[in-house]
Amino acid sequence: MDDKVRIGVFVCDCGTNIAGVVDVPEVTEYSRGLPNVVLADEGKWSCSVDYLSKLQDLIKEYRINRVVIASCTPRTHEPLFKRTVREAGVNPYLLEFVSIREQVSWVHMKEPEIATQKAKDLIKMGVAKAALLEEGQEIRLPVKTDCLIIGGGMAGMNAALSVADQGFNAFLVEKGPQLGGILNKICFVSHDNHKMPAAKLIRAKVEQVQTHPNISVYTDSELESVEGYIGNYKVKIKSNGDASTKDLDISTIIVATGMEEIEPEGQFEYGNDSRVITQLQLDNRLKDKQLDNVKNVVMISCVNSKNETRGCCNIGCHAAVKNAIAIKHLRKDASVHILYRDMSLIKEEGMAQQTAKRLGVKFLRFSDDRYPDVQIENGNLKIKVYDLLVGREFELPSDLLVLTTAFKGHDTVGQIKGHLKVSANPDGFFQESHVKLGPLEFATDGISIAGCAKAPMTFKESCEEGFGAAMKASIPMNKGYIETEGIVAEIDLTDCTQCGLCSKRCPYSAIAVDEEKNPEVLQALCKGCGLCAADCPAECINIVHYSDDQVFAQVEAALEENPEKKIVAFVCHWCALGGVDMAGVSRLQYPSNARLIRVMCAASVSLKMMQRPFELGAAGVLVAGCEFPTCHYIEGNYAAEKRLRRAKKQLAKAGHDPEKLWNIWCSAADGPKFANTMRSMVKDLGL
Ligand code: FES
Repeated sequence: MDDKVRIGVFVCDCGTNIAGVVDVPEVTEYSRGLPNVVLADEGKWSCSVDYLSKLQDLIKEYRINRVVIASCTPRTHEPLFKRTVREAGVNPYLLEFVSIREQVSWVHMKEPEIATQKAKDLIKMGVAKAALLEEGQEIRLPVKTDCLIIGGGMAGMNAALSVADQGFNAFLVEKGPQLGGILNKICFVSHDNHKMPAAKLIRAKVEQVQTHPNISVYTDSELESVEGYIGNYKVKIKSNGDASTKDLDISTIIVATGMEEIEPEGQFEYGNDSRVITQLQLDNRLKDKQLDNVKNVVMISCVNSKNETRGCCNIGCHAAVKNAIAIKHLRKDASVHILYRDMSLIKEEGMAQQTAKRLGVKFLRFSDDRYPDVQIENGNLKIKVYDLLVGREFELPSDLLVLTTAFKGHDTVGQIKGHLKVSANPDGFFQESHVKLGPLEFATDGISIAGCAKAPMTFKESCEEGFGAAMKASIPMNKGYIETEGIVAEIDLTDCTQCGLCSKRCPYSAIAVDEEKNPEVLQALCKGCGLCAADCPAECINIVHYSDDQVFAQVEAALEENPEKKIVAFVCHWCALGGVDMAGVSRLQYPSNARLIRVMCAASVSLKMMQRPFELGAAGVLVAGCEFPTCHYIEGNYAAEKRLRRAKKQLAKAGHDPEKLWNIWCSAADGPKFANTMRSMVKDLGL
């Protein structure tokens, strides 16, 4: 490669999307005068086949070795341009992307001059960073064909069968003595109770699993340890019976640990009176047809759910309607009342409610702040409920009071979470990496999640999730390898004090410490979040493509002129930049003061990065990351939040106003939130 930095800047009109607001010829001309720029070219549609081919020719003709693309958002078009420059002989890590559509023309539509100025600034920042870029490369890891499935419920069994049917080896580990999970406690899986008895379904599925030549089943067993990464997991399984252990070499993992009912704590006389039971306990009685002395059944929905600590339990209404129908089939003469706050039912379940009504089940709606009152009078259970729809109170006698309670994750979640280094919410459900961008996946490559390990689900949903997670696991096993981005941490040991903090802070256990206490990055595990780099007291860690020098070069370029009018915004590539893009797509107009610097995660923004803009006279600094708890690097936003608190103290000590350091946590749909933050900042900072 040519030693001298030769930057090519390619500015896109995007038809009139950019050129209709920004003076692109002026911006292109300006770019030609920037340091190290040997060519700046305007393209009508830069992502068109014709222009991409021209871009490749220009790279060769001008011996360009760094490329700056000024166009739309990197979230959609960066991969295309990376491929294009690679084909032209430029390492794709030497490409920098500048968004002058979502961050400029679409959000400052009525201020063409200001928009043009901002576009120039962003390109100047991009060029400053590009000059410091270094080559990188993807990391390729071999993946074999052995998949571990944790949890032998319906989701786990379906996942195992799907993996095994594709010719891979499935190792199914179940903590309990038998397969089937929570389904073992259920009578019927749907309101269509003549066709779907759960026991029959379990029997058929267990037989398929146990007789499949590619599936090994370990019941009464649990994980003892897991080490490694995708393609190379060393797993130890311990039998709870004889305490024997088995070592497995595993390439991918599926977590399908299921869920448990939360038992009410003394509410509605539960625990005091044996006639008060939960839906799962009712299922058990339905299985054994134990309803001889039961004439009046009352069900109360939303027990321990839809409150300050927990949301909708997802399946309570479905379970109540299903079981009410089952009671009516067993005892036609039984009176069944369902007392509910809201009925939350999808299409077929709505039809089930109609069936229930036809069979004589009565539905009474109570208000959020007026739950039914349970009383015992002369040994008789009485439920008083104020029906919102009829507008009066009812008093219902009851031989059986059934509470539709919330659910929590399986009790093994804490232990498994530790082994796999993945995250779970306070209710003990595992958290997938992102509901839209990474469904059925954890943030860690090679580990998928299915069924009620994630949230309460119906039988049908759990089955589908099992197949889905199996597909996720099968992709790398089918390919035989996985390629991960080369955006990883690099440690320069020159100034390292061997404090070991980087290793402790890494959420992926991607930094090992050798016998001499020197840290070493395990590139296969590193995700490049930058948490270690930002926290390293000796500043000896950098993230490829997002090094400190590169970020500071952007800060300095942004603040070269009129810093007192500018806000430097560090924005994570995932949800925060998604929110910025959404503001653009929605054409939300907001003040143009911010100069955005993309980072992989808010966790990578160090104290120094937050302080440097103030030293250069910036009006304010914003750190923008994903809303809680959806950081794409497990807990980066929590780390960033803590660091922000420290930064405020440090700023105050250094004589800067800590109130000028802002933060925002948003989802990729939070365009309005980002635009409003911009407006508020500009107002509060008096810009
Ligand atoms: Fe957005 Fe971590 S990835 S805050």
